[in-house]
Amino acid sequence: MSRVTEVSIGLATCGIAAGAAEVHSRLVSSLAGHGLPVKVKRVGCVGMCYNEPLVDVLSEDGTHHTYGHVTVKDVARIVSEHLVAGKPVEDLLAPEDGFFSRQVRIVLENCGLIDPESLDEYRARGGYEGLKRSLFEMTPSQVIDEIKASGLRGRGGAGFLTATKWGFAARETSPEKFVVCNGDEGDPGAFMDRSVLEGDPHRVLEGMAIAAYAIGADHGYAYVRAEYPLAIERLEKAIVAAREAGLLGEHILGSSFSFDVVIKAGAGAFVCGEETALIASIEGRRGMPRRRPPYPTTAGLWGKPTVINNVETLANVPWIVRQGAAAFARYGTERSKGTKVFALAGKVNHSGLVEIPMGMTIREIVFDVGGGTRDGKAFKAVQIGGPSGGCIPASLADVPVDYESLTQTGAIMGSGGLIVLDEETCMVDVARFFLDFIQKESCGKCTFCRIGTKRMLESLTRICAGEAGTNELDRLIDLSRKVKRHSLCGLGQTAPNPVLTTSRFFPD
Ligand SMILES: Cc1cc2nc3c(=O)[nH]c(=O)nc-3n(C[C@H](O)[C@H](O)[C@H](O)COP(=O)(O)O)c2cc1C
Repeated sequence: MSRVTEVSIGLATCGIAAGAAEVHSRLVSSLAGHGLPVKVKRVGCVGMCYNEPLVDVLSEDGTHHTYGHVTVKDVARIVSEHLVAGKPVEDLLAPEDGFFSRQVRIVLENCGLIDPESLDEYRARGGYEGLKRSLFEMTPSQVIDEIKASGLRGRGGAGFLTATKWGFAARETSPEKFVVCNGDEGDPGAFMDRSVLEGDPHRVLEGMAIAAYAIGADHGYAYVRAEYPLAIERLEKAIVAAREAGLLGEHILGSSFSFDVVIKAGAGAFVCGEETALIASIEGRRGMPRRRPPYPTTAGLWGKPTVINNVETLANVPWIVRQGAAAFARYGTERSKGTKVFALAGKVNHSGLVEIPMGMTIREIVFDVGGGTRDGKAFKAVQIGGPSGGCIPASLADVPVDYESLTQTGAIMGSGGLIVLDEETCMVDVARFFLDFIQKESCGKCTFCRIGTKRMLESLTRICAGEAGTNELDRLIDLSRKVKRHSLCGLGQTAPNPVLTTSRFFPD
């Protein structure tokens, strides 16, 4: 019998919502009652949200036993039978369901494994090695070259090449530049960025610091929506710990490079995730987009060159610098390298946080990783990319998940929301849900988005109520195309996607 040394509990928002905080305190008091010298560790989301609360028991010989759906009542058995008597409680173990077998963990390599509030644990797994390597072994342009060789594209939606963006900012001569981490994550159904911030906040800070070194910035903002209080709290603690350890602030690690990060809590408007609206929001103005160019890399925060990257984009960066571009580019397809994190939700058995190599098909994600649809219902479609994305039908389930292939379907990769729909889902309702969301979130600055999305919603509502005339659908599609073409920012330009993909693939 191997002695138990550590017990981890998933205490991200998903775990806490399922009752993990109560399980945690019962476990702590139960272990104290037995006088057991076992370390109890809080970890972030391991991905298996469908099995929360999760308790992982680690033995001296390195074996893990993971308990799922743990209740406060189960704690007594886990402690007395497993931790004291050394016999795992078979009937409480989470079933071995292949959830991880096809996943590749780059962004999520530490999520659910380390204590997000421990800098030591992050460093023990290679944390801040990428920053160290950048500062002492590479010039800023070599860092950009490394990111370029990796093929990393922005994970916030558009898939713009990260190194190209950094290169634009690097060549600006302004003495003041900024790096902004976009953690607004407003898509309904998406929780990737929140999970990364809650589970591995130092990783995002390290990514920001490397970006800052590469472009010559000394100030950073982490823009995180205020509805993510735990993410903000953990990021705040990580900033304090990194400063104390000389990893943020003046002369990082004794080098000539200085960089610090401030958190800005966003008030929860979807449009504030759009980069120019986000800039306005940080500056204290109303979050409204402006026409580009100039792009933020030329004139961003307070008119200074600014690189804005998504949480997941930045979370890839330390891994790439530490492991090398070639290791990253080994995964994925010709033009979409690496992995993508998805928040898998809807009518699927394994709803949770998954990271898959680019190029995996939708079918493989839904069935091999997601365990198929619930209750054996027929798989109908996936909604991908949130309000800017669209529905891809089961007949296209073999489409690989990469930027170009998804765009060809009329949907987009988006930031990582993936909602599985089954035979009982009404496709018109799905389109209407997203359109309703969009027209409420439209900032009102441009006419096509402000009024166009409203008229589109009215049209869809007439169709649903059986009050539509014979050419209603044609008019809706015509208006959709106009809203797409003439809106000022990405919100309006992509707002018709759910309607257009639905009418294309589900005309009946
Ligand atoms: C309406 C709208 C909302 C957006 N929301 C987000 C968001 O929540 N997070 C994000 O990273 N990017 C969001 N974006 C994309 C950003 O404008 C920007 O392209 C992105 O942050 C760039 O980072 P990346 O190059 O790392 O992807 C949004 C865009 C639009 C049009």
